This record gives sequence, C-alpha cells and structure tokens, in this order.
Amino acid sequence: MSGSPPAVPEAHSVETYHPPKAMLENHPSKHHLSSFEEYQKLYKQSITEPKVFWAERARELLTWSKDFQTVHSGSLANGDNAWFVEGELNASYNCVDRHAHKDPNRVAIIYEADEPGEGRKVTYGELLREVSKLAHVLTNLGVRKGDTVAIYLPMIPEAIVALLACSRIGAIHSVVFAGFSSDSLRDRVVDAQSKVVITTDEGKRGGKLIGTKKIVDEALQQCPDVRNVLVYKRTGADINMTPGRDLWWHEEVEKYPAYYTPVPVASEDPLFLLYTSGSTGKPKGVAHSTAGYLLGAAMTGKYVFDIHDGDRYFCGGDVGWITGHTYVVYAPLMLGVTTVVFEGTPAYPNFSRYWDIIEEHKVTQFYVAPTALRLLKRAGDHHVRNEMKYLRVLGSVGEPIAPEVWQWYYDVVGKGRAQVCDTYWQTETGSNVITPLAGVTPTKPGSASLPFFGIEPALVDPVTGEEIHGNDVEGVLAFKQAWPSMARTVWGAHKRYMETYLQVYKGYYFTGDGAARDHEGFYWIRGRVDDVVNVSGHRLSTAEIEAALIEHHSITEAAVVGVADELTGQAVNAFVAVKEGTEVNEALRKEFILQVRRSIGPFAAPKAIYVVPDLPKTRSGKIMRRILRKIVAGEEDQLGDITTLSDPSVVAKIIEVVHEQR
Ligand code: WT7
Repeated sequence: MSGSPPAVPEAHSVETYHPPKAMLENHPSKHHLSSFEEYQKLYKQSITEPKVFWAERARELLTWSKDFQTVHSGSLANGDNAWFVEGELNASYNCVDRHAHKDPNRVAIIYEADEPGEGRKVTYGELLREVSKLAHVLTNLGVRKGDTVAIYLPMIPEAIVALLACSRIGAIHSVVFAGFSSDSLRDRVVDAQSKVVITTDEGKRGGKLIGTKKIVDEALQQCPDVRNVLVYKRTGADINMTPGRDLWWHEEVEKYPAYYTPVPVASEDPLFLLYTSGSTGKPKGVAHSTAGYLLGAAMTGKYVFDIHDGDRYFCGGDVGWITGHTYVVYAPLMLGVTTVVFEGTPAYPNFSRYWDIIEEHKVTQFYVAPTALRLLKRAGDHHVRNEMKYLRVLGSVGEPIAPEVWQWYYDVVGKGRAQVCDTYWQTETGSNVITPLAGVTPTKPGSASLPFFGIEPALVDPVTGEEIHGNDVEGVLAFKQAWPSMARTVWGAHKRYMETYLQVYKGYYFTGDGAARDHEGFYWIRGRVDDVVNVSGHRLSTAEIEAALIEHHSITEAAVVGVADELTGQAVNAFVAVKEGTEVNEALRKEFILQVRRSIGPFAAPKAIYVVPDLPKTRSGKIMRRILRKIVAGEEDQLGDITTLSDPSVVAKIIEVVHEQR
C-alpha cells in the first residue's frame, strides 16, 4: 500500500493506558486472568489448539443435558461449521434455572422504566416462574421446537422473559427493534415465517408514547400466516384487539403453572434470528446457534467485562439489536449476575439519566455506543455529577470511538478508576471479537486492541486478496478460523451467507471493515470498506477524518463521505454538527479544514464542509453515510428508506444546507 498515509498512528502520538490502579485496588475479588502474559498464553492455545481450549470452556460455562464428543467440525471454506456437535442443552435453563436453584432471591433484572422511579426488580426465582408461564402460553398457541416467534417489544423485563420463553421450548426468537416501521416489521415476519407476534399496547421512551400494537396491526395486514398476537399491557392505552387473534399476556399467563420443563435442543439448533442490513439487498436474517452463541456471550462477559458474582451490569443497547441480545440478556444472565433493563433515553428527563442509574444501582460495568457519549459530552460535564464509584468497566461499541471521546469517558465518567474497553464485533460475530480484557489488556484510545480468544485476524489486500503479514500494515479485516459464536447461516438463504461472508476471500470470514495493525499488533478499525475514500491514490478512512474533525472544540459530530471527483478520483466531503451558539462562517469552515490537514495531512483535507443541525442516524445511533453520499451526489430522489432514522426530518435540512452552499 505504497503512497498511503502512515497506516497507523505514530507511536509517539498514542498513549498507552494500563488497567487503572484504582480499579485493581477496588476490585471485589480478583480478575479472572492474573496478567497480560496469561492472556497471551491462553490466546495462543485458543489458536493452536482450539478444540482443547473451547471444549474446556464449554464444559465449564454451560450446563449440558447431554455431553458432546466432537468439539468442532466443518470449515470456513465450506461454510458448515458446527460446534459441540452431539451436545444438548437449553438456553433458558442456562440463563435462569441454574441460578434460581442456587439463589432464587438474587436479582436478575433491574428494570429502569422510562419515568425515573417507576421500575422494579425481578429475582431469578421470579424470572423462572415468568419464563415458565410464558413457555406454556406459547406452547398452547401451537409454537413448537424450531418455529420462529416475532418479538416487537420495548425495553421492559418482558422482552427478556419472551426471549427466554422461546428458548425454553426450543423455539427461535426473531426480535424486531420496536422502532422499525410496520413495513420493516412485515418483511421480517414474512421472511422468518413467524406465526406468533409478541408486542405491547404501547411503548414509552423519552417521555413519548409509541403505538407498538398499532404498528403490528398495520404490518399484519400483509402477514396472512400470523395466527396470534400476544399483547403485554404496558401503558393501558385503548387499543384494538382482534378477536380470535389477539390475546392479553396477563390473562394468558394466569392460566398456567409456574414451571415448565425446559426442552433440550441440539448445540447447533438455532437460538435466534436477527435481521441486519447489508450494503445491498434486503435485510438478512442472521442465524445464531444455541451452544456456540451462548459460549461466546458467557466467555466475553467473563473476560472482556470481568463479570463476577454480585456485579450489576448495565448495557444501554436495545434488545432489538445484537448488543442487547448478547449484553443485556445472554452474557449477564449466563453468568448469573444482575442486568439493568433501561426503557428510556440518555437525555430524559435530563442528561444525567445514565449517571443517576449507575449511581443508584451501584452499576459495576457500563456499555454504550460512542454516539450517546458524544451527546452527553456535548451536553456538558456538569451533568456528570455522580461519583459512580463501583464502575470498573466502561465499554464502547458499534463504531470507532474518537480518542477525544475516549478520553472524556475515561476521565469524566470513569474518573480514572475504570477501564475503557472499545469492543469491536458485529451482529454476525455474536460476541466481541477484537477487544481489550478489563483488568488485563493495555489500551490505546481509538484502538479496539487485540483479538479475543479463538479469533485469528488477518489483514487482506483488497486488490490481490492476499494476506498482509507483519505489523504497521493496513487492509481488510478477515478472520482465519471459525469461532463458536459466529453466525451459521442467513435464514433461508445460505448461498447469500456464503457470498457475503465466506466467499469474498476463500478460507476467511470477511468482516467488511478496514483495519490497521500497529507496530505492537494492536488493531485500529477504520470503518466499513464501503466507507473508505480514495483521494489521489490515498486511502483515507472516513472514521479517521471524523476523529480529526471532532478534535475541534466547536464540533460535536462529524460524518465524512467520498464524492466522485474528476481530478482526484474521490474527494472528501464532511458533514459536521457544531456546539450550540457557535457562529458558522467561512473562517470557521477553514479552521475545520485546517484541523484535518494538521491532524492527518493535506491530502485528507475535506473539499467541502457542511455544517448541519444533526446527522442522519438510525435509532441505534449509526450514522447513515449512505444518505449523505446520495445527497452530495445530487441523488436526493434515490435516498431509499429513511423511516429507520431516529429523526427523518434532518434529511430535508441537510439537503437545504448542501444546496445553499453550492
Ligand atoms: C459494524 C457491525 C456489534 C455491535 C453493534 C453493531 C462497526 C462495531 C465497532 C468498534 C469500530 C465498530 C463495524 C462493524 N463497529 N463495533 N468498536 N469500532 N467499528 O453491530 O450493526 O452488526 O454493525 O459496526 O463497522 O462491521 P452491527
């Protein structure tokens, strides 16, 4: 990659942070690994003897109703990976029963309702009863092992109950984020062939009501195969109930006993589907196995987040996305600790909401996306008035975290007493794949650091398809070995699975992300390869330019896209949101450009800077650069579906800004 900017930040500009001393001293017990060297040793074993490594962990962390003999079979090249082949187990037994038997009064769920003070706690004993009753209800509705159930629920404890009730009877849950439109819901229900949908009368988020049942009703007009809708009463709104089809959750669960014998499933039986959008085509129903997925959740919960008995774990992700599946539900419950289910938003009723929750419940691990951190950083440090002295781990997920935001997280939220863990993974990987281990791995702001056990990263030259060896290099991130929690297929479209992930570079799993490996082997995620801009032969990461822009004190958020340019191939266009009260003029725009020139180099300087009120983001906070790319390309009439944006009205405002500046 000659002619590229330095692949990796210069060593002198990057500070290495060791696990904070105060965290080590305040630890209630001790870290699961004693040293970084121990990680290195175990990691090596996980790569050279994966079967030995994973068999031991699978027997330690999962409870089996039937043991396995074959640890792993199949290959990446053939796309037929199977783990713990002959084994049988039940996910809800692993997440609930075994903890309830030991300590029924232990709190499984702390529910923080949208309105502060309106939540409640659910113990493992109660969870077992609720899951069992719902399992009876589903069975009575004709749901059988291998059937899918669509779940369209807000962030309430019943969402967890619903997931676990499905798994208790061997059914496959298919959660659709309760912010998706009725059309998106319909497509997912139809694709997954779900015959039962679980929802609420309404949802409540950030003080606003969401008509979930109404959306379900609309979707179901075009889902002829749906037999029943189970409705949990959340707000008591006056809603339509279709006789014979719609049933009240509270009336149904009343009818059944508080115990349901868990149905054992095979290791490879699917636990769930989760739809995810690719760069092309309709959303894919990514299918995860039962045993391998659960092991990934438990292993990363234990080693990445350093979960210990008695911890109170708070992941701010929604159960409608993979982060919610793995780190609100499965990781904490597999390990028998308390998980916080937060229904609201970080800005309601004010910007201290997260910090108040952490303080009140003595949260030990907090996990959130940088987009929320940027919002809260922008709101001002005075909102972070809590001590939060139990915090040991501060996780970041979903997008690169700019060093500046990382530093704020570390200093202002963690007060230097908690470790920031920038975790890289995907819906398809099931659990964290490149990530520090809290208490063990040294970190560098902006780097997801090192591979998790069993993950063997490779950087591939996108042109030749050859692996790039050595350090201080950059390429497309791929994995060379199968790992237990990798997605097994795309529901009903195995060919698409093969083409998207396993046939791009034969023998590798293709992530779709660009990455660099620095002189110490640390990984720096550059963003999706379709977000890479090439200016005069310089490969630029949009994430890198964004990080540079955000270093400017006036900028709160930035999104960079490549635009076709006659002279340079592609040119960089930047969209930025600025602090309230900032006067926007030509001089300021020049400053922004200078910021990038200074931080990365003149070749990276944006050709245009658009100051916009907000960026187009999905409800999970991902910036939709695709929309920005269309706008700057003058293809506003081809924006596609923008209903999944958290605020679709920003699009018109952005178009206006771009037009004005031309
Ligand atoms: C894509 C996966 C699984 C978490 C929620 C998103 C980006 C994820 C990081 C990170 C830089 C990240 C990648 C990846 N991504 N984590 N720590 N640093 N980028 O799941 O919707 O499946 O998206 O999110 O581009 O491919 P997802």
